[in-house]
Amino acid sequence: MTEDTKKVPEHVAIIMDGNGRWAKKRGLPRTAGHTAGAKNVEKVCRAAWELGIKYVTFYAFSTENWKRSEEEVGKLMQLFREYLVGYLSKIAKDNIKVSFIGNLSVLSDDLKEKIANMEESSKDNTGLHMILAINYGSRDEIVRAVNRINERAAQSGESPVRVTEQMISDNLDTAGIPDPDLMIRTSGELRLSNYLMWQLSYSEFYFTDTAWPDFDTNELKKAVDAYVNRDRRYGKA
Ligand code: IPE
Ligand code: IPE
Ligand code: MG
Repeated sequence: MTEDTKKVPEHVAIIMDGNGRWAKKRGLPRTAGHTAGAKNVEKVCRAAWELGIKYVTFYAFSTENWKRSEEEVGKLMQLFREYLVGYLSKIAKDNIKVSFIGNLSVLSDDLKEKIANMEESSKDNTGLHMILAINYGSRDEIVRAVNRINERAAQSGESPVRVTEQMISDNLDTAGIPDPDLMIRTSGELRLSNYLMWQLSYSEFYFTDTAWPDFDTNELKKAVDAYVNRDRRYGKA
């Protein structure tokens, strides 16, 4: 193994931004950008695996995205539906393991069922671990984690509960998944938008002006190359 392959990020978290602007530039409705963006996820998964990346977490829908028009939210939910069904047949072939993070409880019953099916049928796959963040917000995730800790403590009669970092990590939706090494945000915005704030504490950030539907294998390679040249000090001198 060369020095470079050793340093390939194990886990990449992506904020797939810019679908709307991508569409607008082409005179298309915003929803066309979402269709193009959804198609890109599969390609990026394949490219990531070829580069030696083991986990990719995609931000697909934030807890704030409900503020968009009913039409746009409906289209996004429809895309999740189609995508989940369409991808179900391929994940077995690609050996991909799929997990979901976010507050899924408010999603429609059919979507929840598809999500459960996909997680169950792919749980023993040993290839890329793909994580989809739907109705995900970092603050919401931390609040749910703390409430879960409290509820368990109350059940076992422990009060007040002494919370540790490990307990919080273990009760987040990402429990068991290593923290991302690299966070990529497409389309020029320089913010986290409530994404994985706990898990990204020591991750390297990479921002590109490229819109998500145009973010291809080459763009991923550029991001990984930038990462490989970073010096991760973790507070050490
Ligand atoms: C990202 O693209 C997709 C979601 C947030 C669901 P946007 O829809 O945010 O695209 P822009 O930022 O408006 O261009
Ligand atoms: C973040 O993008 C959420 C997703 C990519 C799913 P937004 O486009 O919603 O973020 P803001 O509103 O520009 O911060
Ligand atoms: Mg956006």
